[in-house]
Amino acid sequence: MKTKKVTIHTLETMKERGEKITMLTAYDATFAQLLDESQIDLLLVGDSLGMVVQGHETTLPVTLEDIIYHCRAVARGTQRAHIVGDMPFMSYQSSIHEAMVNAGRLIKEGNAHSVKLEGGAQHADLVSRLVSAGIPVMGHIGLTPQSVHTMGGFKVQGRGDGEAERLLQDALTLQEAGAYAIVLEGIPSVIAKRISETLHIPTIGIGAGADCDGQVLVIYDLLGMNDSFKPRFVRRYEHLATRIRTAVDAYTTDVKNGAFPSEQESFFMDKAQRPKSQAATVSAIALAGGCGPGPLSEVSPPQEDTPAGDTGGMYSTPHKPKP
Ligand code: KIV
Repeated sequence: MKTKKVTIHTLETMKERGEKITMLTAYDATFAQLLDESQIDLLLVGDSLGMVVQGHETTLPVTLEDIIYHCRAVARGTQRAHIVGDMPFMSYQSSIHEAMVNAGRLIKEGNAHSVKLEGGAQHADLVSRLVSAGIPVMGHIGLTPQSVHTMGGFKVQGRGDGEAERLLQDALTLQEAGAYAIVLEGIPSVIAKRISETLHIPTIGIGAGADCDGQVLVIYDLLGMNDSFKPRFVRRYEHLATRIRTAVDAYTTDVKNGAFPSEQESFFMDKAQRPKSQAATVSAIALAGGCGPGPLSEVSPPQEDTPAGDTGGMYSTPHKPKP
């Protein structure tokens, strides 16, 4: 059956119907496929990759080439979700012409469906030019990480005198310019609620309370990949940092004591040489089911037809890369 793709029109309808929109970041094909299968509406190839993938302290060093590379990977893993390519720092601020060329590259080369850029009213002309050129634009206001040095750190925005009004005006100006949605990051819930109620386009919140039309999180934060990073707005649905360490410790133990690979995980010259019994077991983590670090347990080795099946193919389930 053909998958019904999420488009900017789907999002508009969802807002009209009061259906919440889900967005998560994705940076590679494997995660994209998993999130897409889980019916996530929007996949954001965010410049947050500079921090969680590349290990920088801010998003500022991320280049357009980086985002294009990760967009292409995400697009290969995605069938249903709408893919948003983040415009990195200084790829859209210096001139409208350069911004248009760069946004075009995210669509043409990265296979993104739309672009996101940080900032409000100052980008109204650019947003309207991009939209006229056929490039849908998602805005991003409030805590805008590319302005970390102007903000004096990653700080909640909108608490000062007149700031709530300014944020609302920014949101209205972006909507007027043709943006199809706006990320509201790091602002008091009451302001996000007012903006969401005022706009006819959807708002997607991160650290902006429950009244936005949708929510976004960085996938690594949701999965608890970094145990020293737990800001107030993040809910961890997993503790993968612990589980990954436990799995890798078990692998190390098995390699060191010769328990991995077993005969069932090895190849042979011919069928006669193959071990008859499938009874041998290997030590591994019981990753299936349950939350939190799983206990070490005995699990069955691969079936005869899986990698050790000597059919000449290395993989029982081949990767199916898109062109
Ligand atoms: O880059 C990113 O991941 C983002 C989200 C946090 C909204 O901009």
